[in-house]
Amino acid sequence: MNIQIYDNLSELNEAFTDWIKELLEEKGKLTISLSGGSTPKSLFDYWSKHHKEDIDWSSIYLFWGDERAVAPTDSESNYKMTKDHLLDNVAIPEKNIFRIKGENDPEEEANRYSSVLEEELELKNNIPSFDIIILGMGDDGHTASIFPYEINLWDDSRHCVVGTHPDSGQKRVSLTGTAINNADNVAFLVTGAGKAEKVKEIVGGAGGDEMKYPAARVEPTSGNLFWFMDKEAAKLLM
Ligand code: 6PG
Repeated sequence: MNIQIYDNLSELNEAFTDWIKELLEEKGKLTISLSGGSTPKSLFDYWSKHHKEDIDWSSIYLFWGDERAVAPTDSESNYKMTKDHLLDNVAIPEKNIFRIKGENDPEEEANRYSSVLEEELELKNNIPSFDIIILGMGDDGHTASIFPYEINLWDDSRHCVVGTHPDSGQKRVSLTGTAINNADNVAFLVTGAGKAEKVKEIVGGAGGDEMKYPAARVEPTSGNLFWFMDKEAAKLLM
């Protein structure tokens, strides 16, 4: 596990971008799975402001790790967040964008998106393999849209399943642990003091009981795992 801790969000965004640019240079193109949440929103704003020109957006292929069962115009849509904060601002071709269709029946969409991943990504062990999966971690230890109370979905053999938000009951299409752990690189972006307790348990291995959290089960079988954090999120590690 590679742990990177930064003083603030802009330093984190800058370092994360340098890392992506290096990988892009190495590979020539990148398949990236995005997450929802507040940290990516800040990253997308940063890219729109500072990296419109020096990243070859036509070599970036975007997918999502999870999506809420809402229309792409809904304020809760992860696609809409990305469109508003990134896609509308950089020269990324439409054909490079593979969204999860939140407006479809969730179970059918999980199957459809699994097929999209099989067609568009390199297969490793017969499972689609992303170059990079960006993940957030919820205060409850969830990641993508696999929640602790549905931990059985983590090991589901499908690439995508339907998770249900524990409070709102909202359905969400999500990658499984099977797909997540088959990536070349998985990068958590975690910021804010609200995450510190779970970071201590999961990254610091403090409790011994952390495998109940989906975020603790992220362990790419033959890839790399990165935790990019600000010092607030990491404060109980030190
Ligand atoms: C979503 C997510 C989810 C998110 C975490 C962290 O669609 O809600 O993909 O897993 O990444 O809840 O969110 P923050 O970055 O806002 O803390």
